[in-house]
Amino acid sequence: MEKLALHNFRNYKALTLALDRNLNIFLGANAQGKTNLLESIVFVASGRSFRTQRETELIRWEAKNCQVTTLVTQRKSTERLQVGLTRQPAKKSYFYGGKAVKRSQYLGRLLTVLFTPEDLAIIKGAPQERRNFLDGLISKVSPVYEYELQRYGQILRQKNQLLRTYGEKIFASPELASWNEQLARQGAKIITRRLFVLRRLNLLARLAHRRLTQGEENLELVYQSAVFLPEKSKETEIEAALLAAIKEKNKQETKVKQALVGPHRDDLLPEINGINSRLYASQGQQRTAVLALKLAEMEYLKGESGEFPLLLLDDVFSELDELRRKSLVEAIDGRVQTFITGTSAENLGSYLPTGKFFYIHRGEVKPYAPHQ
Ligand SMILES: Nc1ncnc2c1ncn2[C@@H]1O[C@H](COP(=O)(O)OP(=O)(O)OP(=O)(O)O)[C@@H](O)[C@H]1O
Ligand SMILES: [Mg+2]
Repeated sequence: MEKLALHNFRNYKALTLALDRNLNIFLGANAQGKTNLLESIVFVASGRSFRTQRETELIRWEAKNCQVTTLVTQRKSTERLQVGLTRQPAKKSYFYGGKAVKRSQYLGRLLTVLFTPEDLAIIKGAPQERRNFLDGLISKVSPVYEYELQRYGQILRQKNQLLRTYGEKIFASPELASWNEQLARQGAKIITRRLFVLRRLNLLARLAHRRLTQGEENLELVYQSAVFLPEKSKETEIEAALLAAIKEKNKQETKVKQALVGPHRDDLLPEINGINSRLYASQGQQRTAVLALKLAEMEYLKGESGEFPLLLLDDVFSELDELRRKSLVEAIDGRVQTFITGTSAENLGSYLPTGKFFYIHRGEVKPYAPHQ
């Protein structure tokens, strides 16, 4: 990514930045716009914010609309990507090479991997955090998967609505049976894809994690489901197993009035040396595990798309110890365009490739020379 231009995005009125192809470091005090800047990069890449579902929050308070524009050079051709948002009506539009395009045509041209302090929740948080991590990663390279997830969510909501409205009265009705079948069919698609990607991700995560722990620890995400899933189950087998499990819980579901079986209830249990690290890992082990997962995500996206994603490190680099910093820098080493935010240059440590420094103050960005 060579250029980033913001117009009325969060606390930025107008900003144009020429970026370093290796490393860009944004320093500044709290509440000046560091995270906002990374958010804008994710927004122009994916059309989504990682902080809010209510996207009009992204528009600067006094303004009616916002745009984020970027120039990206990949495989020797330069492309212009833009996402725009209006407040009233709340509407988002995508532009590629100056032409309006659909979301599905837009996605996949620029990929990002974001690492923030909140990502520790991938290890110690609720199952949803881990499902979101895996689903998010798959969606980045597969708009079809994103669509399949949405479709699953629709079916789930309709089934839950039915259970809430009729409760035990609906038990054994053909209507509920039909939703169960749809849920099993769509759910099997999701689980099949998750298992497939997880095999590859686990391989990459184990490698990254071994490097970070100098070969001492093994990290694995173990898929946990209400249904038994033998190695390399076929989609049709998963569908049949899901349907059987749903039927078994039918009575209970009509009692508690919600769907209890399906990929929305599954988990990816993080294990270190075979031990549940969600419960037992130390702070340091959790950090190392998350970092390994992020590095694995980076390698996974590179494998799928042919290009390394942008790596965005919000307030985490200064939190890593010297060994982890060194491993991280070795992993990105001149191959991954990286964006780092922090409050001061002092605690960034000594392991950094050369790059550009910027100083952010109240939504304005200036070049910054830390060593002068
Ligand atoms: N839509 C908006 N319009 C104008 N200003 C906004 C908008 N949304 C957020 N802000 C401002 O942006 C500021 C937060 O910026 P940001 O989260 O990027 O800070 P930061 O530099 O990352 O700080 P920290 O170091 O605390 O993480 C808030 O103080 C808020 O006032
Ligand atoms: Mg911040």
